[in-house]
Amino acid sequence: FKPPPIKNEPTLEFSKGSLEWDYLKEGILQLTDNGPIDVPLVIGGQKIYDREVVPQVNPSNKKQVLANARQATKDDVQNAITAAKDAKNKWMSMPLHERSAVFLKAADLISTKYRYKMLAATMLGQGKNVFQAEIDAVAELIDFFKFNVTYASELYSQQPLESAPGVWNRAEYRPLEGFVYAVTPFNFTAIAANLIGAPALMGNTVVWKPSASAILSNYVLLEVLEEAGIPAGVINFVPGEPRLVTDEVLDDPCFSALHFTGSTNVFKSLYSKISSNVNKDIYREFPRLVGETGGKNFHIIHPSANIEHAALSTLRGSFEYQGQKCSATSRVFVPESKWEQFKAILSDNMNQIQQTNISSSSGFHGFVGPVIHQQSYDKLSKVIEDAETDPELEIVSGGKHSDSVGFFVQPTLLRTSNADHEYLKTEFFGPIVTAYVYSDAEFSTILHKIDTSTQYGLTGSIFACDRSAIVEAEETLRYAAGNFYINDKSTGAVVGQQWFGGARMSGTNDKAGSANILSRFVSIRNIKENF
Ligand code: SER
Repeated sequence: FKPPPIKNEPTLEFSKGSLEWDYLKEGILQLTDNGPIDVPLVIGGQKIYDREVVPQVNPSNKKQVLANARQATKDDVQNAITAAKDAKNKWMSMPLHERSAVFLKAADLISTKYRYKMLAATMLGQGKNVFQAEIDAVAELIDFFKFNVTYASELYSQQPLESAPGVWNRAEYRPLEGFVYAVTPFNFTAIAANLIGAPALMGNTVVWKPSASAILSNYVLLEVLEEAGIPAGVINFVPGEPRLVTDEVLDDPCFSALHFTGSTNVFKSLYSKISSNVNKDIYREFPRLVGETGGKNFHIIHPSANIEHAALSTLRGSFEYQGQKCSATSRVFVPESKWEQFKAILSDNMNQIQQTNISSSSGFHGFVGPVIHQQSYDKLSKVIEDAETDPELEIVSGGKHSDSVGFFVQPTLLRTSNADHEYLKTEFFGPIVTAYVYSDAEFSTILHKIDTSTQYGLTGSIFACDRSAIVEAEETLRYAAGNFYINDKSTGAVVGQQWFGGARMSGTNDKAGSANILSRFVSIRNIKENF
């Protein structure tokens, strides 16, 4: 079949006083007016409320509870696995165009009927301003669903097999034999949609552990999929204590794949538990492990660069969504001859940033909101406090923080005098960027340092006008970034334009938003028929 033509979902403006602005205000009110939203477990299409609850608080205003999420017990997880197994046969037997229609309809519902609810849930719960919410929970989410449908139809129609006379060779794109476990992050509603949507589109059924910090938007996503006609049991929603849920899932013989976005450490621990279970012969098949994890993403600025552009790109790469994108810029290397200029532009702009309560309409457009929760706030405050007393670090700009109302950490620029400083290696996942100023002649040495000094390989950028510097960086940093940008910030991959993902300890680099990731959730059978 031929899916409808695809193009990236356009974003709306939300200018003050516009119709969209009013709808958004109403969307926020609808989610907050009647107190916290009750979020059930959803297993085999059944909603379960009679369980312990964990609140999701508004990170802009920590006294406000937005949602109460039910917590799965071990039995619930077992029931979710059973529901996924039971739903499998019917779902995988549906032709691809029917499964595709569910996701295309969901995309349409988000673009229209659910747009403001989705935005409000993402803004309130995950602390995104309207622009960040729109590019995530509307545009990228819709793009994932639509582009995946096109990629899947292309994949299914690939039959590059020769057949001798009297023979017919065929490739059958089966889903994996068991079920898929999706562990989804707080920072992108769209990532949750892709982590459940990509395997499901290929005929798999899913046990989904959403992030407690994204429960509201993730539950809206589930409602949308239900309205779009996803059959009961295809996606089973089991929020809960991570270890409890994960242990139950990974010990099941029919566990076939992990689809994960989160920290490197958690992925490592799941990876080792899975490999130890493989050694114990627990599984029916070798599970596929698909993960996108941490990063220590870089900007390297060459003396030939347009410094204003490099500084403003660093402002956006480091501080948009409070530095909580996996791709956020967190180390920047600036040549000595340009440091004063770079610092002045970046600091001036940082000083104009106001921190805003995203959930009140005056804050919809605020450049910077809160970080996600108390634990993150505590960690980031300690990073800043430690910097104050470290003789190798200087706080160039920012550094204030307060959790009296919400979890607010001011965008902060640090400078270190030590090219091997820990702050150039450790991921903080917040609005803190560390600069190292190199002497202009050391450009090549610094490229090698960037390549070898961290365990990661997610995103990074070179800013230069000199072509030979660009070529040298591209070659030296071949494995230092799965998404490499030339004269652009390290964030903001667009589905269908830049496939997203990194290698090394940043993940399995299966590229979200590409046919490649879909192929991880199929297990091909080759059929030869003699006539
Ligand atoms: N895809 C996002 C970006 O490129 C991060 O997950 O910024």
